[in-house]
Amino acid sequence: MNKYFVIGNPIDHSLSPKLHNYWIKKNNLNAVYEKKLIEEKDLKELCDNLREGIIDGFNVTVPFKEKIIKYLDSYTETAMAVKAVNTVFRKYKDGKYIAIGDNTDVYGFEKSCPLRNHSKWGASAIIIGAGGASKAIILGLYNLNVRRLAIINRTREKAENLMNQIVTPESFKSHFVYEWCKDEGSIGKPDIVVNCTSLGLNEKDRIPLNFSKYKKRFFTKGIIFYDLIYNPEETNFLLNAKRIGQQAINGKMMFLYQAQKSFSAWHGIMPEINQEVIDLLND
Ligand code: ATR
Repeated sequence: MNKYFVIGNPIDHSLSPKLHNYWIKKNNLNAVYEKKLIEEKDLKELCDNLREGIIDGFNVTVPFKEKIIKYLDSYTETAMAVKAVNTVFRKYKDGKYIAIGDNTDVYGFEKSCPLRNHSKWGASAIIIGAGGASKAIILGLYNLNVRRLAIINRTREKAENLMNQIVTPESFKSHFVYEWCKDEGSIGKPDIVVNCTSLGLNEKDRIPLNFSKYKKRFFTKGIIFYDLIYNPEETNFLLNAKRIGQQAINGKMMFLYQAQKSFSAWHGIMPEINQEVIDLLND
């Protein structure tokens, strides 16, 4: 039986086992997917186990998406661009198995983001947060033709580092770092505002954005408010977006699409995302 995992710390909250085991069963595969609470010191052994065929693949979540990189042999172009890995698979090359890192969060974001239906070259985005999750979102936004980017983060220095790490002078037409929820309105008309922080995981959490700046009447078009969080389903960030008449999207579809791409890397099958799968995450 082939063995797959999601590794992280904490890991209890992960819905990946539920989803992957559902797809494994639907596709009659002889495999199992489990969650594994690990420490940083376990990363090397996990990668060795993958090369030796003791395990067959794994997802990586907080806080190991960057830490795993040095233990891998190769990376997809996306993982290399983002410098973060959420999926590890094995490939036979030059007489041995190697461990390859991919980042399917970028695909997940792109597939689930409404900008894909109507974005023009030069669209503008505000990203809140400058942790690991923000990196995949920046590349996803770039692929969706966003060329004006602002990052807001409580710790300004981290936003500046992220900007320097990800953004090359030719990639974005303009890029700014804004003070934590002070002057974010000055970007003008954002097409999308994405919450990449963990603020919202607790129902009482509030991002101190001044939503009156984003009121519909100031703009000729709507703004997408996108929260990577999907549990709770509606964070205060999304509730406030709805209150001012804007489109509010949570991270559920992104989660499903990133998992779909990981599944296909391991099993060579693109599993179906339908209402039954979506409902699975609500139970
Ligand atoms: P991830 O890999 O999931 O992005 P992370 O790297 O720990 O996780 O990043 C968490 C993000 O949420 C950071 O942008 C963090 O802001 P700081 O860089 O200032 O730490 C943000 N964040 C977490 N808790 C926060 C809080 N209470 N207020 C504001 N921002 C917060």
